[in-house]
Amino acid sequence: MVPGHFGARITGVGHYVPDHVMRNADFEKMFETSDDWIVSRTGMRERRYAEPHQAASDLATIAAQHALERAGLHGRDIDCFIVATVTPDYQFPATACIVAANLGAVGRAAFDLEIACSGFIYALSTAASFIRAGIFARVMVIGAEKLSGITNMTDRGTAILFGDGAGAVIVERTELDSDSFLACELGSDGSNPDMLCVKAGGSRNPITPELIDTHKNKMFMSGREIFKYAVNKMVETSKNVIATAGLTTDDISWVIPHQANRRIIEAAAKRLDVDREKVVINIEKYGNTSSATIPIALSEMIEKDAMKAGDLILFTGFGGGLSWGSIAWRWSA
Ligand code: COA
Repeated sequence: MVPGHFGARITGVGHYVPDHVMRNADFEKMFETSDDWIVSRTGMRERRYAEPHQAASDLATIAAQHALERAGLHGRDIDCFIVATVTPDYQFPATACIVAANLGAVGRAAFDLEIACSGFIYALSTAASFIRAGIFARVMVIGAEKLSGITNMTDRGTAILFGDGAGAVIVERTELDSDSFLACELGSDGSNPDMLCVKAGGSRNPITPELIDTHKNKMFMSGREIFKYAVNKMVETSKNVIATAGLTTDDISWVIPHQANRRIIEAAAKRLDVDREKVVINIEKYGNTSSATIPIALSEMIEKDAMKAGDLILFTGFGGGLSWGSIAWRWSA
């Protein structure tokens, strides 16, 4: 990664999760499962579901307002809005355009980025690159998902895993010598898209009543295969970005991983040889909120005042595509 003219830093972080709590016991009434099984296999105890009237832009707007308040900024101070989501309000227009309008920022650049659970990693890399190149001075990066809307509630293997929520960060221009964006590595493998996908509703399989009847408009996942891939790719890209930044895993202050499964996170942390206390896990409260997991976890860390200037953060994620990525980020207060 070659430095540009400017550096990028995060100046505001916010999040929002809906009020409705969906507990493991609620699934026991829907199909054969148990709280014990879900906790031991995934680490999840509960997740949040949005209300029927709430769309991804509604969750995103509240998270972004939270980030703006923390940064002491208004929506019109932002030059570009990027929303990472697989559950946009509409096929088009982009959810980001709606969020910008909601925040009083009509006229600003706005676009969505769709790369499933790797969405935040890709979007933060994009935002930081825009800033380093001098194109924008402030970019709002939001991960926002209403996954309850695309969850197959008859499939016990996936229904338990996903929740709704949004997280937002404001990435801002800074001097080159205080650049936070140390290194990133992004990757994909689309040779088997069916491993984790919503099969119907795109140009490949336009929606039909039959496809709806067979839940093809909902998420499908080969969980076991993805598990191994996730651990391998998170470890590989994490090692690479730390090395590219000229650091070692001993220098890591915090790992903020995508929250897909506690066992995935713990296996990756073990292989990276990072102390458990440095690994941020909140999966028990929110489950997998796809592109929102990392910014929600970061926002909770800010709330706890856990982040100190100079801390080295490793963001790492994995998701549909398949896709993956990691970022080494130096926190500046
Ligand atoms: N309750 C009880 N039993 C369940 C269950 C549930 N909710 N879901 C699946 N099972 C059963 C399966 O039917 C299977 O039964 P069988 O052996 O009789 O066929 C058994 O549990 C084991 O299934 P398996 O899929 O091997 O379990 P697992 O330990 O791999 O855990 C996942 C399943 C989905 C939790 C795990 O594979 C996973 O998290 N994978 C990663 C998926 C992911 O995070 N994807 C998103 C990436 S962003």
